[in-house]
Amino acid sequence: MQTQATWGGRFSSGPAELMQHFSESVSFDQRLARFDIQGSQAHARMLAHVGILTTEEADAIVQGLDELKAEIEAGNFTWDPKLEDVHMNIEQALTQRVPAAAKLHTARSRNDQVATDMRLWFKWATLEVLQDVKAFMRVLLDQAEAHQEVYIPGYTHLQRAQPVSLAHHLLAYVEMLGRDLKRFERVHDDANWCPLGSGAIAGTTLPINREFTARALGFVDADGRARVTRNSMDAVSDRDLFLDFAHACGVCGLHLSRLSEDLILWNSAEFGFVTLPDTFTTGSSLMPQKKNPDAAELVRGKSGRLHGHVAALYTMVKGLPLTYNRDLQEDKPPVFDALDQTQACLRVLGGTLQGMRARPDRCAAAVADPALLATDLVDYLVRKGIPFRQAHHVIGALVAKAEEKDVKLNELSDADVQGIHEAFAPDWREAFNVERAMQARERPGMPGPKQVAGQIANWRQHLA
Ligand code: ARG
Repeated sequence: MQTQATWGGRFSSGPAELMQHFSESVSFDQRLARFDIQGSQAHARMLAHVGILTTEEADAIVQGLDELKAEIEAGNFTWDPKLEDVHMNIEQALTQRVPAAAKLHTARSRNDQVATDMRLWFKWATLEVLQDVKAFMRVLLDQAEAHQEVYIPGYTHLQRAQPVSLAHHLLAYVEMLGRDLKRFERVHDDANWCPLGSGAIAGTTLPINREFTARALGFVDADGRARVTRNSMDAVSDRDLFLDFAHACGVCGLHLSRLSEDLILWNSAEFGFVTLPDTFTTGSSLMPQKKNPDAAELVRGKSGRLHGHVAALYTMVKGLPLTYNRDLQEDKPPVFDALDQTQACLRVLGGTLQGMRARPDRCAAAVADPALLATDLVDYLVRKGIPFRQAHHVIGALVAKAEEKDVKLNELSDADVQGIHEAFAPDWREAFNVERAMQARERPGMPGPKQVAGQIANWRQHLA
């Protein structure tokens, strides 16, 4: 067994094959290649800036890394698991071509290197997922816009509660995703600190310029000032961003899962409020009539996976002594998968939602249930000066009466309702007009048509 090329000096034997296989991370961290190269190029320029490398050496390193990057992007690079991770694979390949590369790791450790790579990755990944969240929100807005006059029952306890427009219901999800945007933006900003220069744990005795590297990598504030981490021990062991990113994906997944559940219910024969497109549903191998909402179900299922990633990261980090421990290599698969699954869910559920068609007849039939406006009838009595608690009781008695006579609430006679309370005038049934009920709800946040149109316009502007 050969000794390891980068750290093998004190070893008489290389790792067992089983150990090599167990400890490699290049199979998954190779997706950091372009950030690792970017970090190394900035580091080399900085080393030349402070006189540790000559300009010629730095130029050769930067150019060699550019060539490697092109090879990796073209799929022509062979990753070697014996070299453990993306960092050593790239450094070794570079050293074989550029002698000066033997100086590249000066004043650097893989600990601050991987922390830097991941911060660059988080800055990139958050921008990626933000695009997908915004695209998804636009689909929600399109569907909300198209369904401002389709009314459905809103539910509490999965019991019919009060009417709302389909638009108002969909706009609830726009709000949730709007908070997801903020969460990802916060992760983006928190990622924007450069840990390079922290070394393995305690920095370096060499005269490096951390601000130079930070600026070269874009770790700067709004005024262009370098942002460098303030404690070398924290910088190499901190995994908060992993938790925050996984959490942001987890909450976003949770929102998509709740929407999926609504779509699954609405698409059922029992509700029948919508039909989902053939392109995002599947059939049954046995029952020829079936059209199953699998896309929404998978999104609901994958949200469980996203929440698992948060749990895995918490458990991994919580008992670790400072600073770096190899356990932390396991930090990457959860966040990589969190990005992949969140993007996939946003795109698939976006496609499903885009193809969703409302069934106005079924929605109208469901929302025609006058019991949905029993609360509005309470308000009718309140307007006539009856205390709310008493009015609530009176309408309760009306509901009981209707049940007793086996008629709908609005089918009771004037004599029936006046027998229960003398305040009912002949206009009492007007409370059961859904359009009027919606138009009466024009205060902020309510489902009134003007409110809904205003929210759609505001969000469109926000996303423009
Ligand atoms: N592949 C390692 C990881 O992802 C890089 C850091 C290795 N550092 C070390 N001291 N072995 O965690």
